[in-house]
Amino acid sequence: RIAGPCSLVIFGVTGDLSRKKLLPAVYDLASRGLLPAGFALVGFGRREWSDEDFVAYVERSVRERARTPFDEDTFRHLAEGMRFVRGEFDDAAAFEQLSKTVSELDRLRGTRGNHAFYMSVPPSAFPIVSRQLADSGLAKSDKGAWRRVIIEKPFGHDLQSARELNRVVAEVFDPDSVFRIDHYLGKETVQNLLALRFANTMFEPIWNSNYVDHVQITMAEDIGIGSRAGYFDGIGIARDVIQNHLLQLLALTAMEEPVSFSADDLRAEKIKVLSAVRLPEDLSLHTARGQYSAGWQGSEQAVGYLQEQGVNPDSTTETYAAVRLDIDTRRWAGVPFYLRTGKRLGKRVTEIAVVFKRAPHLPFEQTSTSELGENAIVIRVQPDEGVTLRFGSKVPGTAMEVRDVNMDFSYGNSFTEASPEAYERLILDVLLGEPPLFPTTKEVELSWQILDPIEQYWATLGQPQAYRAGTWGPKEADEMLARDGRCWRMP
Ligand code: BG6
Repeated sequence: RIAGPCSLVIFGVTGDLSRKKLLPAVYDLASRGLLPAGFALVGFGRREWSDEDFVAYVERSVRERARTPFDEDTFRHLAEGMRFVRGEFDDAAAFEQLSKTVSELDRLRGTRGNHAFYMSVPPSAFPIVSRQLADSGLAKSDKGAWRRVIIEKPFGHDLQSARELNRVVAEVFDPDSVFRIDHYLGKETVQNLLALRFANTMFEPIWNSNYVDHVQITMAEDIGIGSRAGYFDGIGIARDVIQNHLLQLLALTAMEEPVSFSADDLRAEKIKVLSAVRLPEDLSLHTARGQYSAGWQGSEQAVGYLQEQGVNPDSTTETYAAVRLDIDTRRWAGVPFYLRTGKRLGKRVTEIAVVFKRAPHLPFEQTSTSELGENAIVIRVQPDEGVTLRFGSKVPGTAMEVRDVNMDFSYGNSFTEASPEAYERLILDVLLGEPPLFPTTKEVELSWQILDPIEQYWATLGQPQAYRAGTWGPKEADEMLARDGRCWRMP
């Protein structure tokens, strides 16, 4: 579907996210023909830029990062609707100027008063930007046009701050006009989890505690903190990605079938699962934290976290986190969900592995039992998108020897269509007013409720355990699983 006439205003347009993801996504939507002819893009920022400077900046970012080939005509058409408004967030005059600019674009581009505001800014700036939008009359429209606000994570840094932010945002915007981004929900492979589970008959009957031993959700990155110390240090990886991406993956893996894929029905099921999550009683046994030290990432020499530019040299911020969560429902009783994530790990991979119980009995002599592992269904979220079934198979020869093999579905081999980038899909959904892929206030708060006690416990500890860059995390994490008689999969 193609979005209707509208403008997209980005706050924090000179930031990393905007340059690397948002602007290229807007261009990709345009070049796929999914934006209306009446579309405008407005950047709001502190730089002394003219509209031409802004257009040049967008062009650089599009040429560097867009997925679709650069087409002069498409870009020129988009550029005609680009404006830059200079200002500080606490400057009412700048918001007056913004208001004038979008009204003018309504006239010139036919955007009809429909405006989406993308807050690609730190959470500390949400309240002031929201208030300024309210005061300048931009937050709501009484002329039948729509106003929507897109909020980037992190949504607060604990339950209390998230509630406070929710309160501020709710004062200014109607609940239906607030879109909280969790870009993992925009990933093709994450949406495919729903197709895999609910469009087929063969997975669902075994998707429960009768057959499943445990679930491992891994989000591993090979990159370090790069230029993001200002955001990351003091926050840590659990707040950065467990509170949102990994808990959303858990919810989609564990939830019951929704009545429909409407926003309300889908969110209701996720909320039920998140409400049923139980933390282990002894967090010292069932959580692990780590911080990367210097090492080698392939042929690249990586500095340790404490030596990264902008990081406090005494920082106790974790760059690796693992937690065990249980879900108190009939379907999942006794099936632990292990979540792990880290920077500077062996390689970049995100996957959900549903690991099955062992066969109760093997009717033949197994000479080398070590080669027969547990059956697993692995949803490969990225980068090698697809699904793997892992099971035992007879090794050719005279002996009855069984060894694990993989059966693979890979997107690259099965489909010729390219997957849209997550931000493309999500920005389009906002412009279309389609809310299913955006977490609700309730989900955000429940996720903080799960994470808060873990963070509070970790705050009482000292330095996280060091792990060498390029390895698979701290020993603590292996010990955590070994205590349960299990081990991490090697993706
Ligand atoms: C972001 C985190 O939400 O997700 C980053 O803030 C992380 O720390 C990024 O690097 C990973 O996204 P993706 O899509 O590359 O897995």
